[in-house]
Amino acid sequence: MGVNKQLKEENIYKPLPVSIVRNLPQIKDHRLFQLKIENGTTWETFSHQPGQFIEVSIFGKGEAPISISSPPTRLDTLEICVRKVGILTNALFELGKGSTFYIRGPYGRGFPIDILKGHKLLLVAGGLGLAPLRSLLLYALDKRGEFDDIILMYGTNNPDNVLFKYELLSFFDRKDIKYLYSVDKDEEGIWKQYVGVVTGLFDQTELSPDDTYAVMCGPPVMYRFVIQKLLSLGFAKDHIYVSLERMMKCGVGKCGHCAIGDKYCCTDGPVFSYPEIESIKEAI
Ligand SMILES: Cc1cc2nc3c(=O)[nH]c(=O)nc-3n(C[C@H](O)[C@H](O)[C@H](O)COP(=O)(O)OP(=O)(O)OC[C@H]3O[C@@H](n4cnc5c(N)ncnc54)[C@H](O)[C@@H]3O)c2cc1C
Ligand code: FES
Repeated sequence: MGVNKQLKEENIYKPLPVSIVRNLPQIKDHRLFQLKIENGTTWETFSHQPGQFIEVSIFGKGEAPISISSPPTRLDTLEICVRKVGILTNALFELGKGSTFYIRGPYGRGFPIDILKGHKLLLVAGGLGLAPLRSLLLYALDKRGEFDDIILMYGTNNPDNVLFKYELLSFFDRKDIKYLYSVDKDEEGIWKQYVGVVTGLFDQTELSPDDTYAVMCGPPVMYRFVIQKLLSLGFAKDHIYVSLERMMKCGVGKCGHCAIGDKYCCTDGPVFSYPEIESIKEAI
């Protein structure tokens, strides 16, 4: 029986012990953790989808939802990219290679792969929002023949805060992905690319709204402006997907902490089509 199915049938709150294979500093206060399952089972049976998240826990330090950053096409390790902000994430940063902690999941509704297949993809990421989008991006690159053009627009607040820097730089050598990036501010004058908010990148490429799906993840303020831009370019509302972040506790639709309007972000999302959340004032 698959690990995930087995956990769900036994007890949805029962955590799975995992250990750290590598713990790679990214930018200040952000690390990429590569994980393996403690009992040696492979991630194949975990069967996650791009856009899903896990609940990470450390005994005595609590639990937090964290997006899965690796694609289901690469199952040697499961990767999460974490920003150190509070109790759980500080404790996680104290753990070295080989240390054990716990996860539950995978949870939530990820990106709608079946809808996206066969179409052009526009991925718009801001800051740590690249973490869940990277799972979709690497999935699409690993299954390149199943998707049409792929464009990644990534914005960070300054040049020191680019996540997955070397991976992103390698995209410049590829002909099958267009990568555009921006920084909000470049006080030292070292940035050779676009300086300004991520929506400015739309002027640097041609898009064909009819057969493109746009997916985005980033700070809430980014969504408003990116959605406005997409609609002004002629994107249909149902060609726009957002991944939302809300305070969560249970992660499985039981506690109500993550409610937005009549939806639970943990089970109905975190990925929503724009028409699903358009009328919910607090969604964006
Ligand atoms: C679906 C989902 C996916 C996520 N993916 C990632 C990820 O890939 N990497 C990552 O680093 N973080 C991610 N987060 C955010 C992460 O869960 C929070 O930062 C979490 O609070 C960290 O736990 P902590 O115990 O370290 O911090 P805490 O001690 O709980 O809190 C730190 C501070 O952040 C505030 N806070 C807590 N949660 C949120 C939230 N969701 N939005 C705004 N403020 C909050 C608290 O009020 C407090 O001020 C995700 C959240 C969600 C809902
Ligand atoms: S986190 Fe408990 S219902 Fe969503």
